[in-house]
Amino acid sequence: MSTARRAWRPPPRLTVSEWADKNVRLPNAGYVVVSGPWSTDRFPYQRGMMDAACDPRVWRIVFMTSSQVGKTSVVENIVGYFIAHNPSSILWVLPTLELAEGYATERLSQLFGATPALASCIAEPRSRAGSNTALRKQFPGGYLVLAGANSAASLQMRPCRIVVCDEVDSFRR
Ligand SMILES: Nc1ncnc2c1ncn2[C@@H]1O[C@H](COP(=O)(O)OP(=O)(O)OP(=O)(O)O)[C@@H](O)[C@H]1O
Ligand SMILES: [Mg+2]
Repeated sequence: MSTARRAWRPPPRLTVSEWADKNVRLPNAGYVVVSGPWSTDRFPYQRGMMDAACDPRVWRIVFMTSSQVGKTSVVENIVGYFIAHNPSSILWVLPTLELAEGYATERLSQLFGATPALASCIAEPRSRAGSNTALRKQFPGGYLVLAGANSAASLQMRPCRIVVCDEVDSFRR
């Protein structure tokens, strides 16, 4: 196939779990138990949690689970899919702006750094004419904004196709 035809080929159809299995690398970081390539087979219940996010019939997903079962990791994979595979505008809400900042710098940046498919889409903070910060990442075809449920200002003027909320039990006005 010619280079020009290859360039126009749509990306392969992948579910979120298939995309994660092919692309996500868990970093060598304190919060990670097993670093290296992501495997949905390790905890197969995560497959449905992830793949609902790319089912066009589904518009809202709620997880009711115990702690430490991989909820945040599943959300990270969903967000990664909508950054690198199906670029979209994404709003990611945590209980407070402070938590969002800590999460972005201590955990998310390590995941992005370890996963080439994401690192190649997202420039480091302060590069690319300063478009990216810890809480705002631009990438071809979309952007990711992390916000705090306690900060109305951080939620304003954010039209987004994908909204994810983590630790909703702690959301307060
Ligand atoms: N499929 C997986 N393969 C390897 N490690 C995993 C997988 N899923 C989750 N983990 C690991 O399990 C731990 C807990 O994951 P995570 O923080 O996503 O859980 P959580 O349900 O959000 O926890 P909490 O209830 O505390 O918010 C982390 O170390 C994460 O890297
Ligand atoms: Mg969590």
